[in-house]
Amino acid sequence: MQTVITNLTVKNTCKKLWELYPFLSQDGTFFAIISTEYDTHGNVTADFLDVISYASKLGYEYVNTIVYPTVYKQHVAFLDNVRYIVWMCKSLSKMKFNKDSIREKHIWKDVEWGKRAKNYNPKGKDPGNVWIPTEDDGKAHITKHVLLSDNDVIARLKNMVGCGRSCAVYTENRNLIDLDQSFAPLPECNQSLQKRPEVIFKTSEKMDTIKAKTLNLIVTSPPYWNLKDYYKKGQIGQESYGTYLQRMTVVWNQCYHKLADNGSIWININIRRQEGKIIPLPNDFVKICKKIGFFYKGIFIWHKSSGIPTGDKNIVDRHEYVLLFSKSRDFSVDFTELSHIADYKNPFINGGAFWNINRKAGSVGKKFIHPAIYPNELAKRIIRISTHVGDLVCDPFLGSGTSLIAAICCHRNFIGYEYNEGFKQLIQYRVSLEIPDTAVIYKN
Ligand SMILES: C[S@@+](CC[C@H](N)C(=O)[O-])C[C@H]1O[C@@H](n2cnc3c(N)ncnc32)[C@H](O)[C@@H]1O
Repeated sequence: MQTVITNLTVKNTCKKLWELYPFLSQDGTFFAIISTEYDTHGNVTADFLDVISYASKLGYEYVNTIVYPTVYKQHVAFLDNVRYIVWMCKSLSKMKFNKDSIREKHIWKDVEWGKRAKNYNPKGKDPGNVWIPTEDDGKAHITKHVLLSDNDVIARLKNMVGCGRSCAVYTENRNLIDLDQSFAPLPECNQSLQKRPEVIFKTSEKMDTIKAKTLNLIVTSPPYWNLKDYYKKGQIGQESYGTYLQRMTVVWNQCYHKLADNGSIWININIRRQEGKIIPLPNDFVKICKKIGFFYKGIFIWHKSSGIPTGDKNIVDRHEYVLLFSKSRDFSVDFTELSHIADYKNPFINGGAFWNINRKAGSVGKKFIHPAIYPNELAKRIIRISTHVGDLVCDPFLGSGTSLIAAICCHRNFIGYEYNEGFKQLIQYRVSLEIPDTAVIYKN
């Protein structure tokens, strides 16, 4: 067998992965189309991360995860309209992949190839791992974002591995959840917005300046393991993977204790590959957070238009994940706020779990350097849909100060931790530019 495509429940996908492994040819590919599965309280019971973890144990090599929106929105803590295609193979070096079959035409010179003419390809742009094709007016304006059906997706997957190869497709009707009920609405907050935001330059493994159960929201992008250096000895991310996870467990534990009972934590993270091996960070965080006592509510997709061109054997990473956990079983976001978010020229995509947010090129980081800044808009959206004016927001890995700026712009209180006090100048610079009337307290 050369290609397998499944569109099944997580459990039945895993069964097929196990059954078919011996029959898949050395150059073969396995595509598993997955929707997140929830219990009746809107907590995740199984998702694509389980599929990746199970397949890796069986010996499959991980290639990528493609996401696309569906018409059907599962009504859980938010409206989940994401389908995941976990792309695996027997051997990365032998796998067949016809990249040209899924290219789309370039429409926007400034964004898609800019000054780098080598990024222009007459066959079309390098395909990415978010599948939302566009239509345009021929003058670089997108007129429509297209929703692909599962059948369109299956046809694309077949083309990707080349015509004429044997392909088995397994599909079933999955019982997707549609509770059509709202979970506990966010309780009103009675704190007033008079406090000065605080930034503490210490490790977030011990956030002892924050009282237990006082935070309404934690929004953060933690340091990845073994990826970027934040210029200070003792930072999280430079130790062995086991020690890294232990240190992150301490931070997530602190977060749990400092979070109010109605609070939530949003973690921006991605799956990484290193020397062909997968580093299952999102999966490990899910396991750790569930063990601590958090409820796992699902994933938002941060869809970025930019991406680094890849070689022949892969597609461009154009999304990151935002994992959502809550302290109470029945947490849900503010659906009205969520429905105001409309990034796509297609009403069936908006209001769900896809957010198309592009970084403003060169906005910060030119004068002062920080290697991993996320966009203000990402933090602002999370703050707006999960808290009220006057609530207390925290970022345990503040970096250049993005969450602080977003919180103040949304009229929330803020406290943040950052290990490297060398970023103080950068935070002050951003504060003076973006929220000039705010007096921040800095503590060492
Ligand atoms: C991915 S960056 C956060 C970037 C931030 N979201 C922004 O937009 O600027 C992770 C940050 O965690 C910090 N960090 C590393 N170890 C830490 C620790 N033990 N406690 C607090 N911060 C730490 C790093 O210095 C780095 O600035």
